[in-house]
Amino acid sequence: MSEVLPGKVYLVGAGPGDPELLTVKAHSLLRRADVILHDDLVSEAIVSLTGPHARVINVGKRCGAKSITQAEINRLMISFALSGMDVVRLKSGDPGIFGRLAEELDALSSANVTFEVVPGITTALAAAASLGVALTDRRSSSKLVIVSGHHANGIEPLEKTDWSALVADHTTLVVYMPGRDLSNFSRQLMEAGLAAEIPCAVISRVSTAEEVRIATSLGELSGVATTETPSILLIGQAVGRARERVLAETPVRDFEAQAQVLARRFAGVDENP
Ligand SMILES: C[S@@+](CC[C@H](N)C(=O)[O-])C[C@H]1O[C@@H](n2cnc3c(N)ncnc32)[C@H](O)[C@@H]1O
Repeated sequence: MSEVLPGKVYLVGAGPGDPELLTVKAHSLLRRADVILHDDLVSEAIVSLTGPHARVINVGKRCGAKSITQAEINRLMISFALSGMDVVRLKSGDPGIFGRLAEELDALSSANVTFEVVPGITTALAAAASLGVALTDRRSSSKLVIVSGHHANGIEPLEKTDWSALVADHTTLVVYMPGRDLSNFSRQLMEAGLAAEIPCAVISRVSTAEEVRIATSLGELSGVATTETPSILLIGQAVGRARERVLAETPVRDFEAQAQVLARRFAGVDENP
């Protein structure tokens, strides 16, 4: 009996949601892989690009009552690869940004499974592009700091972060998983010495038809408690032009109405009974 040749695991970035923001390599791997293990945040439009023969499994932590553990995801990748299948482990954005990539690579290495990482467009980049701003600007921002608002067990909570050291002048701060209560960031950053006038943008469902952009300031951020998920928060002078651009596209009155619609949605009021 001939021995089964093991398959390979590709850890692929799906980008923020728009299929046109996939890399050509990601697209061709999706077409030919035997198994796709995708996260919950990967858009339906991208999942639908998988080849007709592929086995597609949502291993997202938010899918259904019983969540799949990281250890189970690792086991699935390894067992499919060892049974000769090529696996695409598809993650939103870039797999190396808050995507548990390191843990998965360690598991694959320990099992002697061959892998390749295929980068994707991380949300921060797509959000800045959508707002029409640059994350760095030699006139106002020479540093980019990326943080997660949600920390894994064992990692220092945000409350203990020394913001004054992290976000000095000339910095753009990007917060992934900022949560719905943005007042916390606003308070901590102002306590660390950042001015209330510093521009901020909250952008949800970046690059999809449901994208919502809110341009505001650090001082006004606490009023933006109701954003759709997933969302990302950008803070810094480099984001300043976003306010003009978002308001130019959306008259202020409509902008406020939009915020009220979002607030009602979060309160569970069905807009279309
Ligand atoms: C687990 S992290 C994954 C980040 C991803 N690897 C990346 O590079 O964008 C999930 C967070 O990414 C952000 N995110 C992912 N997709 C997004 C989207 N289309 N719009 C806004 N935020 C998004 C949100 O902050 C979300 O809570």
